[in-house]
Amino acid sequence: MLHQNQTCSEKKVLGKTGEKIPSIGFGTYNIKDFVSAERALLKAIELGASLIEVSDLYAYGLAMDLIRRVISKVKREEVFIVFRADPTLLTDPQSSIFKVEQRLRRMGVTYVDVIMPAGYPEFTSLETLAKVLEAIVDKELARYIGLGDFKLKDIVSIMSFLRKYEISMVQSRYNVLNRRIEKDLIPFTSENRITILACTALERGNVLKHPTILQIAGKYNATPAQVALSYLASRPNVVALTKSENIAHVVEDTEATKLCLKEEDLNILATL
Ligand SMILES: NC(=O)c1ccc[n+]([C@@H]2O[C@H](COP(=O)([O-])OP(=O)(O)OC[C@H]3O[C@@H](n4cnc5c(N)ncnc54)[C@H](OP(=O)(O)O)[C@@H]3O)[C@@H](O)[C@H]2O)c1
Repeated sequence: MLHQNQTCSEKKVLGKTGEKIPSIGFGTYNIKDFVSAERALLKAIELGASLIEVSDLYAYGLAMDLIRRVISKVKREEVFIVFRADPTLLTDPQSSIFKVEQRLRRMGVTYVDVIMPAGYPEFTSLETLAKVLEAIVDKELARYIGLGDFKLKDIVSIMSFLRKYEISMVQSRYNVLNRRIEKDLIPFTSENRITILACTALERGNVLKHPTILQIAGKYNATPAQVALSYLASRPNVVALTKSENIAHVVEDTEATKLCLKEEDLNILATL
């Protein structure tokens, strides 16, 4: 059976940390209207979907300014910030700390919850990258370490280079219509208790018109977006990451945590 450890909860445990984080979060890439996006993120936080992913690579830094405005209206500890850092920042411990501090100041925070390089830093070995990430956590600029878009073999290498901390989160493209990582990354991360941050949770809207997803949604009186998010949330170590600047969509997406799909439907979805 594919979904033996099915969970339909609003929270997931982050890696081996014991800390609970939301099962559904919101990213800040490709935002068209930052005013609506700010309202939508505040709604998500109010509803408990308070994991926000941000990068200094998004919208020439405007996504970091958005975080600053959002954070100024809530308590810092109410939001779990995943910072997908430009990997060119992460070349050596000293200069990386300086550059990460600059980004944190722009976001109006003193720390992020997870620091993850958004891919491979050119001309930097994986061993050095591991040292840089540990130095950032040592300096209390981040609480946990993650990796964005790394090959499994490189995740394993970086894990072997880490001396003090562990990888808590790995970001990867994953949704009900793109289940490539179920072959290798999902089993590996389940076994090693690493959380997957599944970006492109709605396959950029393509799940909304898929006939089988629509049919299953009808059975539960749910929406196709909720079915797609619930499929990801049913995985014990997966957090679904979508994006929305529309309050109605945020409410709909957040309510997906209440939808508990039956085994038979999860198995149908796992064949799409
Ligand atoms: N795409 C990648 O390869 C990638 C890589 C790394 C990180 N990320 C991060 O992951 C985040 C999510 O990825 P993504 O933007 O590709 O996400 P996605 O979940 O595949 O698609 C988001 C799109 O779906 C729409 N949407 C959201 N909820 C909806 C609903 N209930 N009904 C109808 N439409 C809905 C949004 O429009 P509205 O705004 O109008 O609601 C948006 O256009 C990004 O923002 C980024 O921060 C993505």
